[in-house]
Amino acid sequence: MTPEKLIQHAITAQKRAMAPYSNYFVGAALLTDSNTVILGCNVESKAYPTTLCAERVAIFSAISQGYTNFTALALITKDGAFPCGSCRQIIHEYATNIPIYIANESGEYNTRNISELLPFPFG
Ligand code: THU
Repeated sequence: MTPEKLIQHAITAQKRAMAPYSNYFVGAALLTDSNTVILGCNVESKAYPTTLCAERVAIFSAISQGYTNFTALALITKDGAFPCGSCRQIIHEYATNIPIYIANESGEYNTRNISELLPFPFG
């Protein structure tokens, strides 16, 4: 699947984000080795710290559904922000060595891997 197509899936997820407090909408699309796309969006809570990020929703959802091997991850935010530290840790542990397409709403994206985003990881 092309990066552009996977980013389109992330945009679908982003539209489902529940972010009434931050108004910052994040979409994630995780591609499995069987070409299934698992989506994740951020889901915020009135109890702010219980919020979950889009990346972890996608990865935990995929694992829950029996998928453990991934080939790419696409992320979309309005400004193309990179994943937070907690998500970097989970990507490192469960979605290692895959291209991460980090897109913004202008249609641009960066490709990174987790060793660039999280050098010297815990583990
Ligand atoms: N967020 C993500 O979904 N992923 C990240 O990597 C960083 C932040 C969400 C959490 C919260 O709902 C909103 O973005 C603002 O922090």
